Amino acid sequence: MALENIVVSREDSVGLIQLNRPKVLNALNGALMEELAAAVDEFDHDSAIHCIIIHGTDRAFSAGADIEQMSAATPAMMLENSWINRNFERLRRASKPIIAAVSGYCLGGGCELAMTCDMVIASETAQFGQPEINLGVIPGAGGTARLARAIGKSRAMELILSGGRMSAKEAEMRGLVSRVVPGELYLEEAKKLAREIAGKPPIAVRFAKESINKVYELPLSEGLDYESRLFYTLFSTEDQKEGMSAFLAKRKPHWKGK
Ligand code: CAA
Repeated sequence: MALENIVVSREDSVGLIQLNRPKVLNALNGALMEELAAAVDEFDHDSAIHCIIIHGTDRAFSAGADIEQMSAATPAMMLENSWINRNFERLRRASKPIIAAVSGYCLGGGCELAMTCDMVIASETAQFGQPEINLGVIPGAGGTARLARAIGKSRAMELILSGGRMSAKEAEMRGLVSRVVPGELYLEEAKKLAREIAGKPPIAVRFAKESINKVYELPLSEGLDYESRLFYTLFSTEDQKEGMSAFLAKRKPHWKGK
């Protein structure tokens, strides 16, 4: 696929995807979402890649769904060709960890995209919000569902109903982002984290991601059962034998991803 709306690159075992519609602050149109989901799928199936980063520019991670593309839509059109939700679902199903490296505007579908990722590293310039109410709609790609879970019902309600914004510092304090870093360091810090994760045993990393995401949605007792089944399954991997033998022999482990 010729890429017109994203830039894809790789640094060792880290796959990088940059949203690339800077003139419209990386508004998410159908073509961008198709390219993004395809790039994530490709990295997810590439055994040389162990962690994925999605980022925008210093000015904007993304200002949300493309309002021009959406403005004339009918319910049937949205249902038939839900370019946002269909492709967010593809991202959600990726088995490798995805880090959102966020700077500047992270609004509407952009905020929903960041929340679909597994971790968010934010620049102190980042601003988060769900301003859809100002357009006569509501967040439609996980905003009401994920924001309330991430930062609590009351603040999510306030942000979504007022269309207001939340600073990076507040987003960190409320647990929406894992870390806020100064200015332009956000991408470097995301890469550092990605490299660290990429150096861990790959099957255990996938299982840890799967367990956290799954268990987050389950009642505690079911979640504990789910987690323990994944934990026991890891005892069938060579990496478990290697990790524990290496610890006991006081040497560095060599992961095989098997
Ligand atoms: N869709 C389409 N174009 C957009 C856009 C969007 N979401 N956001 C910004 N742009 C365009 C602007 O129209 C403008 O284009 P022109 O230069 O051709 O006029 C360009 O990007 C730059 O934007 P501004 O001049 O407005 O820049 P600013 O710095 O003054 O303001 C902003 C930045 C506050 C982000 C403002 O652009 C804005 O409010 N954007 C819309 C944010 C929004 O409402 N997002 C929700 C979209 S709906 C959604 O996401 C639904 C969902 O849940 C799935």
